Amino acid sequence: MHSNLFGEHFYWGASISAAQTESAALLDGKGLSIWDDFCEPKKKFFLSKHRIKNKHHIQESSDFYFHYEADILRLKQLGFKHFRFSIAWSRIYPDGETLNPSGIDFYKKVIDTCLKNNIEPWVTLYHWDLPATLEKKGGWTNPEIINWFELFATTCIHSFKEVKHWMILNEPSVFVGAGYFFGIHAPGKKGFENFIKAMHHANLCIHHIFKVIKNINPDLKVGSTFSFTHIEGLNQDVKHQKAAEIADTLINRLFFEPILGLGYPTEQLKIFNKKYFNLIKKEEELLKTPLDFIGIQNYTREVFKHNPFNPFLKIKQIEAHKRTSELTAMNWEIHPPSIYEVLKKINNYQSNIPIIVTENGIALNDQINDNSIQDSQRIAFYQSHLEQVLKAKNEGIDIQGYFAWSLLDNFEWAEGYYPRFGLIHVDFETKHRTIKESGHWFREFLGET
Ligand code: BGC
Repeated sequence: MHSNLFGEHFYWGASISAAQTESAALLDGKGLSIWDDFCEPKKKFFLSKHRIKNKHHIQESSDFYFHYEADILRLKQLGFKHFRFSIAWSRIYPDGETLNPSGIDFYKKVIDTCLKNNIEPWVTLYHWDLPATLEKKGGWTNPEIINWFELFATTCIHSFKEVKHWMILNEPSVFVGAGYFFGIHAPGKKGFENFIKAMHHANLCIHHIFKVIKNINPDLKVGSTFSFTHIEGLNQDVKHQKAAEIADTLINRLFFEPILGLGYPTEQLKIFNKKYFNLIKKEEELLKTPLDFIGIQNYTREVFKHNPFNPFLKIKQIEAHKRTSELTAMNWEIHPPSIYEVLKKINNYQSNIPIIVTENGIALNDQINDNSIQDSQRIAFYQSHLEQVLKAKNEGIDIQGYFAWSLLDNFEWAEGYYPRFGLIHVDFETKHRTIKESGHWFREFLGET
């Protein structure tokens, strides 16, 4: 397979995020983010509990802050022409309200380096690293978040005029679900009330910030990215199919349909359909947003079955390791048709908004031997997933680009540093970079024919 099958104008890129790669957490005026705090052990009486596997800390990640020039050159060497990265909000506004000019300077340098090398920057405004001071005021559960975000976004749009492609939020379903319902990601909040508030504010934020950016410059291309997991029932039995529908509503639809103007899909979630749902449903007409592109991020499929013992939703997830041995280092199932199914599903909404795959990739426990990393499983993953993307595109779905996750090995949130997603290996002690076989594979795939 060669990339030219996707057409001349297809966007090929690789993605990273600020918090996962930059390090330099307190350098040049940066403030702490919720992730800097979340990596600190939580003290309870005389005990302290680490919330990140192996006590890893986000502040010792891939040093992109110091290596950005060489990393962008590596991205170019692999044949990519587009680079998706995010801006650390607490580098621009360390306390959420006081501007830090050094933060602006850093991203100007990153953007200039891209442009000098004919790489198109695609910038995500929010990839999960809220300034810690704003979390103290309630973070995403406080409706004020929309004003705080407006200040940050406006500054970015005015300061980085060369950037033509912007993404507002990265995967709201994940940062809201993991961070404000299960408490396994920063800021570690739990419960239904936090979840509903944070979800609604995230949706309002996409809508409002889209308008803010377009008012500044209507020519900018503004999208947002959504996590989409392919969900199946255990088998064709109606009760398992119903379980899959409920899971799909919670994981995918709640965070996507309001933006398309379809309102909150609460019919499956009657059990919750009380106080908070009633409140947010009043505002659901406010959420329709004519995004310029939809960023889709897919990694796997999940399977659900009916479970009469679950008091609320009556569903149970069948974990991937119980049903297959085709697993990644995240214990996620490798299931290439998932990405095709997800693309078809998005297309069925008939929104007429182009789709860009803004993330897709695999975590492995890569080993370095004689200065090389033979990650044939990653190459097979990309090949098989790209075949599925091509199949969807050839069926007429308007898919305009594909970004691999990730350019670099990085901090995989609560999982720490062991699951490696990069096309480029990072030695986390020395910060030395080595291009993996999969990186070389991309160079051929994207190269001249
Ligand atoms: C996120 C990334 C993350 C990746 C793999 C996506 O949910 O946007 O930050 O590293 O998936 O888990």
